[in-house]
Amino acid sequence: MANTIAIGIQWGDEGKGKIVDLLAPGADVVARFQGGPNAGHTLIIGETKTVLNHIPSGILHENTLCLIGNGTVVDAHRLVEEMATLESAGIPVKERLQISDRCQLILPYHRALDAAREAAKGEAKIGTTGRGIGPTYEDKAARRGIRLIDVDKAGLDKKIDENLHYYNFLLTQYYHAAPVEKSTVMAALELARTHLLSMTADVTGILSEQCQAGKTILFEGAQGAMLDVDHGTYPYVTSSNTVAGAALCGLGVGPGQVDEVLGIAKAYTTRVGSGPFPTELYNGKELMDAAGKYMAEKGHEFGSTTGRPRRTGWYDAVVVRHAVRISGVTGLAITKLDVLDGLKEVKLCVAYERNGARLETIPSCEDEFAECVPIYETMAGWSESTYGLTDVNALPAAAKAFLDRLEAISNCPVVMLSTGPDRAHICHI
Ligand code: GDP
Ligand code: IMO
Ligand code: MG
Repeated sequence: MANTIAIGIQWGDEGKGKIVDLLAPGADVVARFQGGPNAGHTLIIGETKTVLNHIPSGILHENTLCLIGNGTVVDAHRLVEEMATLESAGIPVKERLQISDRCQLILPYHRALDAAREAAKGEAKIGTTGRGIGPTYEDKAARRGIRLIDVDKAGLDKKIDENLHYYNFLLTQYYHAAPVEKSTVMAALELARTHLLSMTADVTGILSEQCQAGKTILFEGAQGAMLDVDHGTYPYVTSSNTVAGAALCGLGVGPGQVDEVLGIAKAYTTRVGSGPFPTELYNGKELMDAAGKYMAEKGHEFGSTTGRPRRTGWYDAVVVRHAVRISGVTGLAITKLDVLDGLKEVKLCVAYERNGARLETIPSCEDEFAECVPIYETMAGWSESTYGLTDVNALPAAAKAFLDRLEAISNCPVVMLSTGPDRAHICHI
């Protein structure tokens, strides 16, 4: 395998965890470069299900070094819990995982502000995961963030006092919410000091050595292109860059170290949280079209992290073409084709219509995006099961025709096809 960046190219939950886990044996290193515990990456191996939030999806493999890069944000409580769950399942996490000492820490006041803001926004809320992601990235840019390296340094107490002064003013005076106690913040920092500090490393240095030694790196993204803070459906996005370029600054590697960019997309589309979604058919409560509910139920479309129902709709090639362009995607991994089994007809959105004009690309303005009406191509469905197929030639003719058309309108070759949640359910093309 070549050095590959694997990223989501819709609104997250495309099956990145599954794809990264199955590619990991071909890599020496799997490295996460952005996001934090807002991510939920699911790995299914036989009867065993593993959901990862911070930890790279290569962790189940004995000979794979897993790295968490400087571009990620870390919640010590959740990461320690995540490690303990894996350790109790017999995975020697501490032998396989190293964390950048430059990672920003998510602290209780970040979660409190995330919650207070969402509550204040009411109907207009972003629908965040509530994990404090936005405020933590804000602190990083504002240069008041606390990094892992800081937790045993003199001056920490003073920084915390300053931050608490600021946050508690915002929380109590602006949002009329409860203040955060210093003791809870200090407990989180103490946990990071006692459990995580010994696992920190110069991740950039490790990657540089690995590259020089000709080792193979698999870069694992979180979220998806449409949640990118610059290129997504702003403001209904996460607070980090999720595009392929983020792998470079989120780990400290140069562009010359990347050979391929694998874009992971479902054969349909889902989204959790608010914001425009032109091909939406079902929002978890209200039905716009029976196919939407069919896909949501058959695809078990509930958030891996929050359990919220995912909004569901048809494959949107406008979104995928945008993602291919902004990340230089060289190949597509299409997941969950099996979820479409049994539908009489299946649809692909090839372009949008807005105010009588045909649009081939997404508008930058959220209000204009919300007004886009999908232009569909409708194709025959298939009644046969594709579940678990490992040979693309064994697909029913209608499923093959759907995949061929999906590829043509996405401006990118399909190189992998996932036909079930298990690591073994994969066709390499
Ligand atoms: P991630 O965040 O991109 O890693 O994706 P999630 O793990 O949040 O959501 C993907 C869900 O789809 C998980 O429950 C996976 O087990 C499941 N999954 C992945 N690939 C397939 C597939 O090809 N078919 C089916 N039926 N389920 C899949
Ligand atoms: P993975 O890696 C799907 C969404 C939230 C919300 C928006 C902002 O599993 O694909 P945040 O908490 O990041 O401030 O929320 O982004 N979101 C995700 N949706 N999958 C994810 O991660 C997500 N991470 C964040 O639902 O709409
Ligand atoms: Mg997920």
